[in-house]
Amino acid sequence: MTKAMRAVAIREPGGPEVLEIVERPRPSPGPGEILIAVEAAGINRPDCLQREGKYAPPPGASDIPGLEVAGEVVATGEGASIFSPGDRVCALVAGGGYAEYCAVHESNALPKPGDLSMTEAAALPETFFTVWHNVFQRGGLKRGESLLVHGGSSGIGTTAIQLAHAFGATVFATAGSAEKCAACEGLGAARAINYRDEDFVTAVKQATDGAGVDLILDMVGGDYVGRNYEAAAIEGRIVQIAFLHGAVAEANFAKLMVKRLTHTGSTLRPRSVEFKAGIAAELQRLVWPLLAAREVAPVIDTVFPFEKVQDAHRRMEDGSHIGKIVLEMG
Ligand SMILES: NC(=O)c1ccc[n+]([C@@H]2O[C@H](COP(=O)([O-])OP(=O)(O)OC[C@H]3O[C@@H](n4cnc5c(N)ncnc54)[C@H](OP(=O)(O)O)[C@@H]3O)[C@@H](O)[C@H]2O)c1
Repeated sequence: MTKAMRAVAIREPGGPEVLEIVERPRPSPGPGEILIAVEAAGINRPDCLQREGKYAPPPGASDIPGLEVAGEVVATGEGASIFSPGDRVCALVAGGGYAEYCAVHESNALPKPGDLSMTEAAALPETFFTVWHNVFQRGGLKRGESLLVHGGSSGIGTTAIQLAHAFGATVFATAGSAEKCAACEGLGAARAINYRDEDFVTAVKQATDGAGVDLILDMVGGDYVGRNYEAAAIEGRIVQIAFLHGAVAEANFAKLMVKRLTHTGSTLRPRSVEFKAGIAAELQRLVWPLLAAREVAPVIDTVFPFEKVQDAHRRMEDGSHIGKIVLEMG
């Protein structure tokens, strides 16, 4: 008989109140998969979009929300050989993270780095995979270049600032309050710009002697599209990972042509297990040692018990958080 587990279900599209704890069958690990007894699960902005009915899980993924977990391996599927029961791991999952058990292909899991807690480990996969791919692989950030991170105090932003700084880039960030700006500078940003008081294009131009920045990581879109073209350097790159201000924009594309800009973007969740495994391998080689040495670390804003998942979503949506919000299983 299939064993049961507690999981969070989305009763219907809506606000945080539609999240409810239900019983579901415990998943069993398929070929190449591991089953993780989840100790903590990270909350991400896309989970809120999924709850609102605006971001459907990709085909084959669990309808339980949650894109990242940390916990202990309790079973392995046929052919799985990297991890064994008892190993402590964190993993990127395409869904199903808000649950007591979660199955994932072992190539999308990584050992818990160093002495990080399980709560810290659960805060890693979604932002580290996303930032590694979009800033370093797609955006091609190199030592000595400059990066502008919009939403610098977000989960994604706090990771991007730290990693770019650790790999020798000069980082600028935008954020919506003095407290958030101070946090960005504390993480390694050379200059954080409070976009409510200052125009980021002017600030970035001033800080770079008029040259502009080599790379921009943007989650805002809308009117930022044209302003990013202004703030970018000649041959600059802009990587779009979300559109918090809207995906439809009017922009002066002459800037893109004259400055020879590259504007690209991507979304991680629907990519294949093999693609995510490639990111995991690079993270383990190049970033996990920095985490183990605590040269970079996840920024934890708040931790909520599993039963308070509605409050965790409310915390994310009130927008005052800095860094990551994490759920802990009791
Ligand atoms: N493409 C991908 O593969 C991928 C993967 C993961 C996440 N994402 C996206 O990356 C973004 C950041 O994710 P996250 O989990 O780090 O989220 P988060 O911590 O909630 O960060 C969002 C931040 O954006 C800023 N913001 C600006 N305009 C906003 C608006 N209209 N509504 C809400 N926030 C606004 C807020 O800071 P201020 O107070 O400074 O405005 C907020 O802290 C999300 O949009 C998410 O969907 C994309």
